[in-house]
Amino acid sequence: MDATIVSKMQKHYPVLLKEIISVISPQHGGTFIDCTFGQGGYTKKILDFKNTNVIALDRDIESAKIANQLKENFEDRFIFKNIKFSELNNLKLKNENIRGVIFDLGYSYAQIKDPKKGLSFDNSGKLNMQLGLNSYSAEDAVNKLDEKELEKIFKFFGDEKEAKYIARNIINERSKKIIDTKVLVEIIDKSKKRKNFKVHNATKVFQALRIFVNKEISELIHGLINATKVLKKGGVLGVVTFHSLEDKIVKYFFKSLSENESISRYSPAVKQADTLFNLIRKKPIIPSEEELSENPPSRSAKFRYAIKKTDFYNFDTNIEDQFKNYIEIENYGDKL
Ligand SMILES: C[S@@+](CC[C@H](N)C(=O)[O-])C[C@H]1O[C@@H](n2cnc3c(N)ncnc32)[C@H](O)[C@@H]1O
Repeated sequence: MDATIVSKMQKHYPVLLKEIISVISPQHGGTFIDCTFGQGGYTKKILDFKNTNVIALDRDIESAKIANQLKENFEDRFIFKNIKFSELNNLKLKNENIRGVIFDLGYSYAQIKDPKKGLSFDNSGKLNMQLGLNSYSAEDAVNKLDEKELEKIFKFFGDEKEAKYIARNIINERSKKIIDTKVLVEIIDKSKKRKNFKVHNATKVFQALRIFVNKEISELIHGLINATKVLKKGGVLGVVTFHSLEDKIVKYFFKSLSENESISRYSPAVKQADTLFNLIRKKPIIPSEEELSENPPSRSAKFRYAIKKTDFYNFDTNIEDQFKNYIEIENYGDKL
């Protein structure tokens, strides 16, 4: 579920790094946007190539510390912004030769190990899950949303079979006490009829709450749209995903913009409609046996990419419509 997972040797491990570098080919120079800087694994590798520039983003202010160290060595080739990648269009990038935009979704090892973030069911304490620049926490969600809303979050974002019982038991329990991490894990344990011995009982509900709190579906959709706008002709848009819903969104986005007439009818420069992307391969790239043995948690990673065929910025996409059920669920957070 997370890319920057520590390997067996307890070192930082940027997932699918070799494959990503081979696809975006920084040896030819140009400007790259790393939308999920994290520990800077991808950015550092790109900056190793001369004539490259990196604009890196991360919603977590903790990443700024690593970015500041990097700035000491690459002052004129590296910029870091503490913003969400859905706001990519706010960067003033008009004249930049953007050759690649990359996303490595989810959270980092440092984040899951940070008790203040409250991402893990092993941490006791506040049920937080905010990666940064959020408006509400997981504690707000489980203590304030109604039963049906909680059920939908667990079902749609976690594919949790017992979503209904867990939501009902949360409502019953919260009239007696505040639901924190420990209480939530107890409720989930009590609600699950079938025990799974391979994965922790709370895995799916915790994933669902993390997606909800960070609005990960809307973030991804707007991140993809805005990344496509800033890319130059020949530029690569690449995304590493860690669960099936993310992968479904990325797959749909690339497929729809490489098969249909996706360049905007409203773009004055367009005489003849064409597709926006060239999809070189339909199947995702997955970690090699070697990577899996060094870093087993990378097993859920999937890397998809597409190449922009034109310099047009306007295009038609129905992606928001396609995933509107999920966006509606994320919007329950607006009242918190
Ligand atoms: C898996 S880590 C990236 C690791 C990075 N590729 C590396 O090698 O160090 C994902 C990062 O994306 C950040 N992130 C997640 N959603 C984001 C969003 N919507 N906008 C900006 N950053 C985001 C997280 O804070 C986290 O630091």
